Amino acid sequence: MQTSRFFDALGTVFPGDPQDTDPTDPRWAQIGAEVTGFTSPNELAVLNLAASLLPDDEAYLEVGTFKGRSLVGATQGNADKTFYAMENFLEFGMAGQEARAELQDNLRTRAGGATVHLLEGDCFKLMAQPGLIDKPVGIYFYDGEHTVLAHYLALAVAEPLLADEALVLVDDATWPVVQRAHRMFLRRHPGWQIVATWDAAHADDPRWANGLHALVFRRTGAKRGLSKADEALRVYQTTLQKQLNSAAWAVGSRFPGVAKKVAGVVMGRSRAIDGG
Ligand SMILES: C[S@@+](CC[C@H](N)C(=O)[O-])C[C@H]1O[C@@H](n2cnc3c(N)ncnc32)[C@H](O)[C@@H]1O
Repeated sequence: MQTSRFFDALGTVFPGDPQDTDPTDPRWAQIGAEVTGFTSPNELAVLNLAASLLPDDEAYLEVGTFKGRSLVGATQGNADKTFYAMENFLEFGMAGQEARAELQDNLRTRAGGATVHLLEGDCFKLMAQPGLIDKPVGIYFYDGEHTVLAHYLALAVAEPLLADEALVLVDDATWPVVQRAHRMFLRRHPGWQIVATWDAAHADDPRWANGLHALVFRRTGAKRGLSKADEALRVYQTTLQKQLNSAAWAVGSRFPGVAKKVAGVVMGRSRAIDGG
């Protein structure tokens, strides 16, 4: 995807600087009010604009759909585009299981007639399966697990799937944990650039939720698979870390009060937003 077209067109969906204006189209606030989820109207406007510019021979990939708010936003008016989504329904305990039914319903009734290929499972396993996505990924929206390792792997594991030029949008990017992962990743991988940072003024900012960063990837050499070091991290994430996550969510469902306190202590610093 010619990513400059996306950045040049932002002025067509925002009346001023996207950082501090609301999108012109009221549909995004309406979707936010009607579809349960975490993405804000400004984020939906950005996702939709990006999807509208996707060439026919490339795919849009989302990781972390929950009940489908971000996908509903991206698909409006974009029925002719190719959408893939990955979700493991692990987070939020039982609410994750309920999310499956609500997601399917939202995709059937609200996705603007677009076909969304929903791939259920761990994104770090799915993305490593050759041939699962039938086109190079021109737009990649990551809104899955938010740890340093997950955010590092979100870029590493996706890179081989990306088109030679791709737009990568990362949610919750105002959180220090995300920026740390991006710094580590960009130091080790050529061809990546952070082009726009729409940061949250405080936690759950109505305009930008917890922030959205736009990265551009331009392949600098031949397409390569994961390095040995990155593959080792991926294997760790999909085995040991996955078991820890499953156990944590299971405990969280049974003892929500305790889980919230522990999460608050463990994640407080990595998810703190100045002013929040
Ligand atoms: C914040 S929610 C996504 C919100 C959604 N994009 C919206 O607009 O409301 C994060 C989602 O990522 C999913 N997730 C977390 N880790 C994942 C993984 N390894 N593979 C696939 N999905 C994952 C969770 O189950 C959860 O539904």
